[in-house]
Amino acid sequence: MVTPETPASKQSKILSIETMSLGLNIRGSTLLNDISIQVTTSGVTMILGPNGAGKSLLIKCLHGLIEPTKGRFEIALHRCSDPIPQAMVFQKPVLLKRSVMENLQFADQHSCQRTDLEQALDAVRLLEKKDQPATQLSGGEQQRLSLARALITQPKLLFLDEPTASLDPASVLIIEQLINQASQQGVKSVFISHDIGQAKRLASDVIFLNRGQVTEHTDAATFFTNPQSREAQAYLNGEIVL
Ligand SMILES: Nc1ncnc2c1ncn2[C@@H]1O[C@H](COP(=O)(O)OP(=O)(O)OP(=O)(O)O)[C@@H](O)[C@H]1O
Ligand SMILES: [Mg+2]
Repeated sequence: MVTPETPASKQSKILSIETMSLGLNIRGSTLLNDISIQVTTSGVTMILGPNGAGKSLLIKCLHGLIEPTKGRFEIALHRCSDPIPQAMVFQKPVLLKRSVMENLQFADQHSCQRTDLEQALDAVRLLEKKDQPATQLSGGEQQRLSLARALITQPKLLFLDEPTASLDPASVLIIEQLINQASQQGVKSVFISHDIGQAKRLASDVIFLNRGQVTEHTDAATFFTNPQSREAQAYLNGEIVL
């Protein structure tokens, strides 16, 4: 399997994620199986694969929310031994029963100025709703607030589980711009999507998962023009992946 890499000249500040035969077994079902990947690219690593492939479970493991039952993984930042600040945007938004602004304030570990918090809400077009109860936001607005909340923690590593799944096209672009901006500021993103157009716009490299196993990990250009695995070829052709 090809492991895409960022050129050595750019690697000094790059975060790496490595899994060694990582597996997850729950009540006798093997949900993740023998996953060995090495991510050393900057920018956005896209995880693609059919429903039920194990994409969400994999990033939950990497975010420390689920303990793998086999193997292990390491997340490291070159020349840095401190814990790496990481954040996650969940497939189903989980918000506090408080106002939009209070949801941001609760996540803010850096004592940001109110103007910074307002700017963060403005970036996801939610400033006008800052005093509304967060749980009364629409589905797409809740996803946008979830992203603002993740970014306010100033992560170096960001896991995004279908963060634009219920967004209108304009909101999708806003979110993609924010992710690109974060990438330029050195934030590594691991992004799950079923939107092939979006994957093409954002990905540096693609990990394809099927039935709990990685069938390939290739750079984005190769993945979209010449996918290596039969499963990825079928997925990109809109066929049922078996
Ligand atoms: N806690 C659990 N116990 C048992 N099975 C689980 C558990 N969580 C997830 N699964 C199963 O593991 C499989 C992978 O789930 P996961 O949520 O990772 O899929 P996914 O690739 O993210 O799919 P989707 O594209 O639909 O979001 C599914 O078949 C799911 O039913
Ligand atoms: Mg999922």
